[in-house]
Amino acid sequence: MPRLDTVVEEIAARMRSREERGKVASYIPELAKVPLDQFGIAVFTADGEMFTAGDADIPFSIQSISKVFTLTLALGKVGDQLWNRVGREPSGHPFNSIVQLEYEKGKPRNPFINAGAIAVTDVLLAGHQPREVLGEILRFCRFVADDDTVAIDEHVARSEKVTGFLNTALANYMKAFKMMENPVEHALGVYFHHCAITMTCRQLAMAGRYLAFSGRLPGKGVSVISSERARRINALMLTCGHYDGSGDFAFRVGLPGKSGVGGGILVVAPEKASIAVWSPGLDPHGNSVLGSLALEQLAKAMHWSVFGG
Ligand code: DON
Repeated sequence: MPRLDTVVEEIAARMRSREERGKVASYIPELAKVPLDQFGIAVFTADGEMFTAGDADIPFSIQSISKVFTLTLALGKVGDQLWNRVGREPSGHPFNSIVQLEYEKGKPRNPFINAGAIAVTDVLLAGHQPREVLGEILRFCRFVADDDTVAIDEHVARSEKVTGFLNTALANYMKAFKMMENPVEHALGVYFHHCAITMTCRQLAMAGRYLAFSGRLPGKGVSVISSERARRINALMLTCGHYDGSGDFAFRVGLPGKSGVGGGILVVAPEKASIAVWSPGLDPHGNSVLGSLALEQLAKAMHWSVFGG
């Protein structure tokens, strides 16, 4: 087996010299300002070591990766009842698509497409004010990242709100089908803010530990969720974590992962490592070009694909 520190360094060096980097997300104006020439990687292993390279300590907008954390909290709150509100099948559609919602009567396909994540925030809101729910989400992120500096970028949240016509449409559409219990503005407010959480690759790799290590924080003896729940969240990440690019990501990388339009990807190599990569250039599905390529190379070099080989 090659040395992980060498593999990580070599991948970062190869990514630095790549010309084809995709395009930064432009539909959220604040994200369009992020320079394209950045790449970071952080890998936290079972024996408690952290390997980083490139821009691993630069904070970026985690965007849809936050949906993994809100899903974890909603499952903690209502358990399997969550599946009455949101499905668990890949959508095969873009993350902000509305077409399936009509066929399926306001029940989103899975918790990672935008409609599904908005439904999850609605579940978290039951009996609470938006401010309290946002506080709960941020506290959870800080706890699993073991870092109290994890914060929300208010500029990104505002930028997303003023251009959030599609998300507003999705939330109203669900409300029309009586699939939203709280005011639409409350669910959207929480959603825009949790998408605007910023983390570095190092923080994100720390935050993914509970998914990589059967619900526990290795070395700490702390159980965040049950191993069964971690396994199920990983299954959803594998099948739905990259939207209509999920099949291709499974084919190329073979690991559960969740992408965000900020260019980050959180990936789980079960019992081996929690991995975060970031590069802001995206492919047409909204997934990081260099991030996916780096993960493909990492999984191959370390033989980490869940499918073997
Ligand atoms: O709602 C949105 O469009 C963004 N806040 C999140 C989208 C996203 O990250 C999709 N991921 N690739």
